[in-house]
Amino acid sequence: MPVRAWFPTLIHCQPLQASGLTRFNDELATECAQLRDFDAAGRRWSAKNYPGGYTSYASLNELHKFSSTFAGLEQKLTRHVRTFARALDLDLRGRTVRMTDCWVNIMPPTATHSLHLHPLSFISGTYYVRTPAGCPGLKFEDPRLSKFMAAPPKLATARPAQRTHVTYPAVAGNVILFESWLRHEVAANQAAGERISISFNYAWA
Ligand code: NI
Repeated sequence: MPVRAWFPTLIHCQPLQASGLTRFNDELATECAQLRDFDAAGRRWSAKNYPGGYTSYASLNELHKFSSTFAGLEQKLTRHVRTFARALDLDLRGRTVRMTDCWVNIMPPTATHSLHLHPLSFISGTYYVRTPAGCPGLKFEDPRLSKFMAAPPKLATARPAQRTHVTYPAVAGNVILFESWLRHEVAANQAAGERISISFNYAWA
């Protein structure tokens, strides 16, 4: 083959664990609803910055330090992050991966989350708690998009790995991990119910 692919962008997607997800997600969903009720500052911030939805991103963003349920989630997620760091061939120089931020996102119908990346972090991700049928997935953008300059658009029949965007469906119980510089967004929720996810950042320290 004269043409080979280089510089891949890796994304990890796997169920959090082999069994017991329904019960664990019920516990998480209950706590997420309690957080929204309790977190007046977060509701105020969300009204301005996350229209129609609730996120604890700016108010309660170290949930793994304050809730045993979220600390349990952290433990399970850290195993996935270690696996992902190995897949990336990262040399952690004797350090380990550590969760720095963990917050809740509740998207009722019509709520949306525009294109962003996760600063001050090296691996980020999302865990899905509630994903009503028809709710939007997580859409990633080719990180080289701004460099394509005069390149023609991709064919409609382009191979999936050659396209400029990829959307991972939101599936309750799944973990999605990506390198924190990779831009992503969530389209408007057109499902009837609330889409609940938990996002997080990892550092190596
Ligand atoms: Ni994000």
